[in-house]
Amino acid sequence: MSYLEVIGGRRLQGGIRIQGSKNAALPILSAAVLHSGVTVLKNCPKIIDVKNMLEILRDFGCRVDWEGDVLIIDASGMHGGAARKQYARKMRSSIMLLGSLLGRVGSACLPYPGGCVIGERPIDLHLAALRQMGARVEEGDEGLLAVCESPKGAEVVLPFPSVGATENVILLSVLSEGITVLDNAAREPEIEELCRFLNSMGACIRGGGSSRIVIAGVEKLHDTEFTIGPDRIVAGTYMLLTAAAGGRVFLEAAPAGQLKGVLNLLGRMGVCAEERKDGLWIGRSGRICSPGTVQTEPYPGFPTDLQSPLMAVLAGAEGESRIRETIFEARFKIVEDLKRMGADICTKGQEAVIRGREMLHGETLAAQELRGGAALVLAAAAAEGSSRIRGLSYIERGYENIVRDLQALGVVVNLREENEKDAVYERTWEKPERKI
Ligand code: EPZ
Repeated sequence: MSYLEVIGGRRLQGGIRIQGSKNAALPILSAAVLHSGVTVLKNCPKIIDVKNMLEILRDFGCRVDWEGDVLIIDASGMHGGAARKQYARKMRSSIMLLGSLLGRVGSACLPYPGGCVIGERPIDLHLAALRQMGARVEEGDEGLLAVCESPKGAEVVLPFPSVGATENVILLSVLSEGITVLDNAAREPEIEELCRFLNSMGACIRGGGSSRIVIAGVEKLHDTEFTIGPDRIVAGTYMLLTAAAGGRVFLEAAPAGQLKGVLNLLGRMGVCAEERKDGLWIGRSGRICSPGTVQTEPYPGFPTDLQSPLMAVLAGAEGESRIRETIFEARFKIVEDLKRMGADICTKGQEAVIRGREMLHGETLAAQELRGGAALVLAAAAAEGSSRIRGLSYIERGYENIVRDLQALGVVVNLREENEKDAVYERTWEKPERKI
């Protein structure tokens, strides 16, 4: 069993290039299924969730090849069929295939998407919207069986701006007959990027990234080559790491325009940022101070995916802070680990009160999910002494190579094996036999 060993307390220096966006890549991989031809993707992150999604595409008859860092998907031989549960249940994003399978072959048979520890993650909004467009969906014990022989454009209003439901409506609308108007759509940058990708294949979508998206169905799509943008959550994670550990780093390709809320918050805490056209300088010298109360919200509000990393920072900030989590019902999973490191945190329902301590101390920690795991690494880098962090496979779902990145930013971190002194760090990506 491998774990990360982090020796904390060192100020950061150095720089990294921010990887391609996980939450843009996953819907784009689903969208590639809509076209009976070739999609070439650049800057697609080599992370576990992408690897699982590619296995699912193969299950549906797509050819998937990597040529260096370029991903080539040929969906011309795609059939309906069913996805192997071992992949589809591993991650929530498999639900995003519902819209594209219905759009391409008129039917879909999918196991229920993997929920996770942060919340129950229902799909009622997805199903209600797709049914409005003519889909018939049976929710069986084993999973979903959906049929939609001739999808029709519709006027869909989402009760909540669900990212996944927005993506599924867009995916089914692209090849539908007529116009689909989607109101109260999610405004996350990944939606805008999905629409840009689909338009590069010949789709006709306006308003991607706004709360009203209009999709005019087209007959067919064509080959495309597309570069996936940088991951705003990975960039935000390393910005918060710098806030916690101190020092000054350069984050090449960091999408500062998509992180304005995070940058404003960090400015209030005493963190300096300097935008460049090729990236972002982030620096922190003195002790950071509490920003008061922070509430997670749909974009462009403070992103729920950075809530746990922020909590790890506030554990060492001067003063009392409050975090209100309004998106997921169980996203305070790291509180107990932080308290064992010396943090003073109490939670009541969806609110956490954090009284900053001068310095946390290293501990043996266990990641339970993706962003909470990243937050524990961040807390360990800022703490005094060494920490062991297990559950690396959760972190590798979204971070391409966190050891490489941390070392390049000046963190003392190594991959260790329980029974070996020092393992050569190879990502799960390169060690397929390692069970995730
Ligand atoms: C996407 O999840 C992201 N995942 C999440 O990132 C992100 O946290 C989330 O959007 C919010 O920004 C991907 O893009 C692959 P939602 P998604 O539908 O689409 C409820 C990460 O760490 N809801 O906007 O599942 C739901 O339970 C991951 O990268 C319903 O009630 O998010 C949640 O409380 C974690 N019914 C809220 O809406 C539905 O049918 C937001 O969910 C759908 C959602």
